[in-house]
Amino acid sequence: MLFVLPLRCGFPVLTRPLISPYYFLMNADELRSKYIEFFKSKDHAQIQGKSLLPDNDPTVLFTTAGMHPLVPYLLGEDHPAGKRLVDYQKCIRTGDIDAVGDPSHLTFFEMLGNWSLGDYFKEGAIEMSFEFLTSPQWLGIPLEKIGVTVFEGDETVPRDEESAAVWKRLGIPDERIGYRPRSDNWWGPAGATGPCGPDSEMFIDMGQDPCGPDCEPGCSCGKWLEIWNDVFMQYNKTAEGNYEPLARTCVDTGMGIERTITILNGKKSVYDTEIFAPIVQAVEKAAAYAYGTEPEGDRSVRIICDHVRASAFILGDPKAVSPSNAGAGYVLRRLIRRAVRHGRKLGIPGTVLSPIAQVIIEQLSGPYPELAENKRSIIEELDKEEGKFLETLQKGEHEFEKLLPNLLKDPRKIMPGRLAFKLYDTYGVPIERTEELAEEQGMRVNRAEFEEAFKKHQELSRAGSGQLFKGGLGDQGEMAVKYHTATHLLHKALRMVLGDHVAQKGSNITAERMRFDFSHGAPMTGDELVRVQNIVNDQIRRNLPVTMEVMSLEDAKASGAAALFGEKYESQVKVYTIGDFSKEVCGGPHVEHTETMGFFRIQKEQSSSAGVRRIRAVLE
Ligand code: ALA
Repeated sequence: MLFVLPLRCGFPVLTRPLISPYYFLMNADELRSKYIEFFKSKDHAQIQGKSLLPDNDPTVLFTTAGMHPLVPYLLGEDHPAGKRLVDYQKCIRTGDIDAVGDPSHLTFFEMLGNWSLGDYFKEGAIEMSFEFLTSPQWLGIPLEKIGVTVFEGDETVPRDEESAAVWKRLGIPDERIGYRPRSDNWWGPAGATGPCGPDSEMFIDMGQDPCGPDCEPGCSCGKWLEIWNDVFMQYNKTAEGNYEPLARTCVDTGMGIERTITILNGKKSVYDTEIFAPIVQAVEKAAAYAYGTEPEGDRSVRIICDHVRASAFILGDPKAVSPSNAGAGYVLRRLIRRAVRHGRKLGIPGTVLSPIAQVIIEQLSGPYPELAENKRSIIEELDKEEGKFLETLQKGEHEFEKLLPNLLKDPRKIMPGRLAFKLYDTYGVPIERTEELAEEQGMRVNRAEFEEAFKKHQELSRAGSGQLFKGGLGDQGEMAVKYHTATHLLHKALRMVLGDHVAQKGSNITAERMRFDFSHGAPMTGDELVRVQNIVNDQIRRNLPVTMEVMSLEDAKASGAAALFGEKYESQVKVYTIGDFSKEVCGGPHVEHTETMGFFRIQKEQSSSAGVRRIRAVLE
């Protein structure tokens, strides 16, 4: 799909559960390990999933698909682990955050994926997908239950007869091959620019009757549920909107674990699977409420389950952010506050979130050890934000009391919706609570006006998050590459001037500037800044060559290469050396010679967080 991320985390509710012969009782751990094992048996190297918070990518707040951290490699960089890769990746998609609460939507989900970087293409990818889906050794789904779609073609890219022919040869009959338009069968770029191409999607027949004569795989009536997507990366969409053929064709595939487990186990909702069972139970216990009793209560249970899961993963990430009023921190704050509100609604007394987070940490620390490692900070941050929110709510109620004398003057006893919205927007007072407060005073809230203000606000924030995608996913433009090399020079220069305690904490690059966060306990002096800037410019003028070597992580560390603390690395890594000046473990890409970078100017040095400073610099 062009620009729109197909929501592998949302799907229609099954009208009836799957029945034998393919009633699998497979759990997420089994699916994860079978997938990895299968692709390892096909010569794929397992790589580590990466952080939920992408570095060096100002265009998105969270990692939204398994391919996200692999963008540089899809665009042509060599990967140190080879040309065939497999992994599982934690992902967050917030586009439908307000829909969470229904039986299907999630914000946090896990995605399985396999990649070919210039190795196999359509035929190889489809053959392997087919084998994994149908072989009794793997998922064993009967052939007659599988349908697929391929790209129907348009004025720029031809109909994908090649993929269709492979599916036919493997035994999928014509009537279960849907030819679909770009809006369905084209994936990426996830931002405005980046790798993209036609895809072929795989569906399971849920057994119900077709919705009409045109019902085919890809139809959204609920008969066909998608479980996997093979994307054939062939183009790089440029900032000018052109589709340039990639230097080498690649394959990117994605299978959402939660969704697949729901389908394979014949569940009606993802929240009915074993993945959510312990979390639902924890909420039931805290709230003394039985899931399934009534729709509103169930909605609250689902919101708490999803939002606490997403929050625990954001807080447990090596690059964790804290709740705040901007960016990823704001999303986290929204997730936490919404979960607390629904906890209160369900009547959970006392602390809502952390006991539920404990269950999630225990459940998922096997595949994601960072959850156990960061357990303390996850719990502390959740408790802290919950406490702050409750204080805010009290302030909001106090505000209501202040509004009261004026409100009571209205003979019709109607509280304007815009005031109720203000209480919601500024203080986080849920509309239901405002209605209760109003009712106690014999008033009612103009709900229609509230809804209108709410809708306007949502549209604005949606437009705002849309902006984030401008500039493209993993912007690999010429300037971004130069800035990337500049981060290495700056890192080394800072260590020379300030000392070896300096370690990179993060970086953020756009085509216009770079930001670099590093550990250092005090503001830098003017003299220190000038010295750092001069050192970087000296290295640029020396026109040092930038070279790359692949080696084991141990060898890299032994050779003195700097590595980012907290980042997960593969066992084989790339080490970039800039002349005799700097050596760092890094994915690239970089300039070939430093002279092309121009003049490096530090614009600002400021505090980023406790013990962390931030430099903003430009290349002129
Ligand atoms: N990147 C593709 C997706 O997320 C595989 O569906």
